[in-house]
Amino acid sequence: MSLKLEGKVALVTGSGRGIGRAVALKLASEGARVVVNDLDEAPAREVVDELRAGGSEAVACVGSVTAPDFPERFVGAATQAFGGLDIVVNNAGYVWDGVIQKMTDEQWATILDVHLGAPFRILRAAQPVIRALARADAEQGRRVVRKVVNISSVAGVFGNAGQANYAAAKAGIIGVTRTLAKEWGRLAVTVNCVAFGLISTRLVVSTAEKVSAHIDGRDIPVGVNAELFDAMKRSIPLGRAGTPEEAAGAVYLFCIPESDYVSGQTLLCTGGLTGI
Ligand SMILES: NC(=O)c1ccc[n+]([C@@H]2O[C@H](COP(=O)([O-])OP(=O)(O)OC[C@H]3O[C@@H](n4cnc5c(N)ncnc54)[C@H](O)[C@@H]3O)[C@@H](O)[C@H]2O)c1
Repeated sequence: MSLKLEGKVALVTGSGRGIGRAVALKLASEGARVVVNDLDEAPAREVVDELRAGGSEAVACVGSVTAPDFPERFVGAATQAFGGLDIVVNNAGYVWDGVIQKMTDEQWATILDVHLGAPFRILRAAQPVIRALARADAEQGRRVVRKVVNISSVAGVFGNAGQANYAAAKAGIIGVTRTLAKEWGRLAVTVNCVAFGLISTRLVVSTAEKVSAHIDGRDIPVGVNAELFDAMKRSIPLGRAGTPEEAAGAVYLFCIPESDYVSGQTLLCTGGLTGI
């Protein structure tokens, strides 16, 4: 049986952990060659090792998506290692919450940059490569559809108290998605968005005590207080948080040939939640 993504070259930001890791594994399980990125070197290398151990081709491109040289390095890693670029998943990021009267300019700018500025710069850097590949495909009579999947959140679609920065960025990426769907249609690229609800990763782990993670040089509070977590779960029609593998399934839908005529869309992957 042929694999759905045989030979495709996929770039996944923030794929050392959580949803991004599950996306990298899922795409590779269907034959994609993967450029794994993460801020943290060890988890990125572990995912590359895991993919290679499973017989897939993978390389790491370690570093922050917000670094000025990152977009060129990331796109270059794909073309140098695999000679192509078929799928881009803009997933990396984290939250740095606060009510508006306590949110600093740094908090605002940092979260806007990681969730919106970085995907913009990555896609801008990918454009000339995609254009050249699309031209070569056309000249040789090949029909190839490339895919961009941007990651949003219910916070971006519905708003969420304490997350003005994150909600603005995650709403913004939906605008970028709809715009690029229009700009890149002529390059045979579909551009879609997946907005997650509650997915069980370290970002939203249910916790009795305050916990933090060292992210991009800062200690960022992560996790959701256990009572709030239970209340969130109760509001989800399916009655539970999603797994990273289920989240990856929604991203995968936009990467396979069956979705070649779907573009500019935002898919809610929320266990049935249609508002918060
Ligand atoms: N977990 C949820 O419930 C949920 C809900 C809605 C949206 N999301 C979004 O899904 C995406 C993945 O989140 P997750 O839940 O898997 O979190 P996670 O913390 O488990 O994984 C995110 C990964 O991204 C990496 N990362 C963070 N900042 C980075 C940067 N600047 N450059 C490179 N890598 C970076 C982290 O090191 C980490 O390995 C994020 O965009 C997040 O906003 C998650």
